[in-house]
Amino acid sequence: MLKPLNARPFGYKNRTLCCDDASLAELAAEHGTPLYVYSSEHLLGRLAMFEQAFAAVPHTICYAVKANSSLALLRLLGKAGSGFDIVSGGELTRIAKAHKPALRKTVFAGVGKQVFEIDAALQADILLFNVESESELELLESRARPLDIPARFSLRVNPDVFAETHPYISTGLSAHKFGIDIKVARAIYRRAAKSKYLIPTGVSVHIGSQIRATDPFHAATARVIELIRQLRKDGIAITHIDAGGGLGIEYTDKAFDPAAAVASYAKSVLTATEGLDLHLLLEPGRFLVAQAGALLTTVLNVKKNGNKTFVITDAGMNDLIRPALYQAHHEILPVKQTSGARKPVDVVGPVCESGDFFARDRELATTKPGDVLAILDAGAYGMTLTSNYNSRPRPAEVLVEPEGARVIRRRETMKDLLGPEIV
Ligand code: LLP
Repeated sequence: MLKPLNARPFGYKNRTLCCDDASLAELAAEHGTPLYVYSSEHLLGRLAMFEQAFAAVPHTICYAVKANSSLALLRLLGKAGSGFDIVSGGELTRIAKAHKPALRKTVFAGVGKQVFEIDAALQADILLFNVESESELELLESRARPLDIPARFSLRVNPDVFAETHPYISTGLSAHKFGIDIKVARAIYRRAAKSKYLIPTGVSVHIGSQIRATDPFHAATARVIELIRQLRKDGIAITHIDAGGGLGIEYTDKAFDPAAAVASYAKSVLTATEGLDLHLLLEPGRFLVAQAGALLTTVLNVKKNGNKTFVITDAGMNDLIRPALYQAHHEILPVKQTSGARKPVDVVGPVCESGDFFARDRELATTKPGDVLAILDAGAYGMTLTSNYNSRPRPAEVLVEPEGARVIRRRETMKDLLGPEIV
């Protein structure tokens, strides 16, 4: 029997790490490394958990595509009823390809939308635009008019609420580039309501990512509700509230109860929206997909410098940038469990940067070249943040489904990398 590790689909069976029923040692041998592996059941389970927590109110989950935009995962989520939160024309194209009917449940955010992206989203008849400035609203109107497609929109307001997280992924303070000052939003809605081509549908807010405390979500939602009450007094029929994404997960091996986390999150949002006839939009990314995935990597070398030991892997910061960029912690486990002593090591990639590390001074069971390691909780902001730095082809991706494991993205080749170049 697989003993799942702390709410993850990964666990040891006969001393071999598995993703559900699939042996990671076998997947690494068959497909090579670095390799991303995801569990479909875990992903759908997290979606169901979210649905359950908000079941009492009309709502749509708009999965944040930026967390993981693999077509196979988008199709799974879309077929299971999820909507999507997109931030580019590229992500719009992905939804159209993965599950077209979900375009009607798609919201489009982002501080720098361009004409071609706005046009494509209008023509795709998405649910609404999350508009981040008054000038963007003018641009939206100027595109909706010639296309003769009225644009449903929410203003993304900046609630000036502080939430504890890494500074790079905090967004809800007026010091950040996101959203419109909540104090001026009412006047903008009033001006917009006069246009035949702008339909004020909702108000949206997003305060940041990897937020573990739920109070800030309550505070932000409550501020939005105040604004919605004012707008309704002004005769503007707001029907939707978009509470954004941001619910965090546990990256360490501390106990984590995801159902309790989402229940507490739902409570803080719902106590703020209670009694108002509103359709709730939610934009979870990380909570749904992070723990569904792991990055497998092979040890290339074990090297000592002074009193430090470096475990050098075939995956690098270009394959998973979170530790380098946010000093993020990811648990690392050997795919074959050994009884060897645990020693502090640095797990580092082959990229020519000192920031290219996955763990520093981490207690790890003794490893040797050829061993495969699994970097956990890599399903969100893993593959989507990869690059070809150092001319390294991107990893392949495998999806473990109840029917078996299959490749959902083949490994890149040098031909793929050099294709667009002209000498
Ligand atoms: N909605 C909006 C408007 C967002 O900007 C984001 C994330 C989300 C939803 C989804 O947030 P989530 O539920 O995944 O926390 N690369 C960083 C995270 C960047 C988050 C950007 N915005 C990381 O690896 O931690």
